[in-house]
Amino acid sequence: MKIVILTGAGISAESGVPTFRASDGLWEGHRVEEVATPEGFERNPGLVHDFYNMRRAQLSHVEPNPAHRALARLEEHIGENLTLITQNVDDLHERGGSKRVLHMHGSLLSALCNSCGERFRWLGKMSLTSKCPFCKAIGLERPDIVWFGEMPYYLGEIEAALIDCDVFVSIGTSGMVNPAASFVQIAHNCGAHTIEINPYPTQNAHHFAEQIQGPAGSEVPRWVETVLAKE
Ligand code: APR
Repeated sequence: MKIVILTGAGISAESGVPTFRASDGLWEGHRVEEVATPEGFERNPGLVHDFYNMRRAQLSHVEPNPAHRALARLEEHIGENLTLITQNVDDLHERGGSKRVLHMHGSLLSALCNSCGERFRWLGKMSLTSKCPFCKAIGLERPDIVWFGEMPYYLGEIEAALIDCDVFVSIGTSGMVNPAASFVQIAHNCGAHTIEINPYPTQNAHHFAEQIQGPAGSEVPRWVETVLAKE
């Protein structure tokens, strides 16, 4: 059985990473255009660096929760029959044990050089004096985050997996941002069973064949156990 899983901010909520669209959302105090668009970065790179430096530093204060670990356990058992796609830029799937994670919206732990286009691991602070280890350009690095108006990563690989899967599961995402929001329809049109795991009904809920209502930390491990019991 081939399974595609899409995760969003909700899977990291119980680890203490705030979701985007909750009232305590990460962007409070900042308009999306300021910190999550290429134009915002061009206008005020220092502010954008500060914003992502803070989020990167927060990663050391959070831990994966049982939902991340359950998905790693699923991968251990079904290997390449699982495609795990995340919209999250944190590293909690990896720290929970997942080996192959498609970070379609990029990663806080990666930098992108605006001069040579290389992407590379970045763990510390990023600033206007940071230097690209490849082309040596100074001050041209940016967080390797897919901002609004930019093309998400891995779309070819994702589409191939969606077309070919038997089950598609969406966990902890509001379904308000495309193209991720449309993955359920692609999978459904290609014959997959579709499941949404979320404590609240989303605006996309009607596209799913099955709803599991509840927090990821308890519902994902339970769902993984049912899958493994059938294997
Ligand atoms: N378990 C599961 N889901 C939860 C939990 C939980 N404990 N707590 C909250 N949620 C759900 C919310 O009900 C909501 O549907 O998580 C979802 C979070 O939605 P958003 O904050 O909109 O996050 P996400 O869908 O990941 O955003 C998508 O938008 O802002 C851009 O690029 C950014 O990757 C992000 C994308």
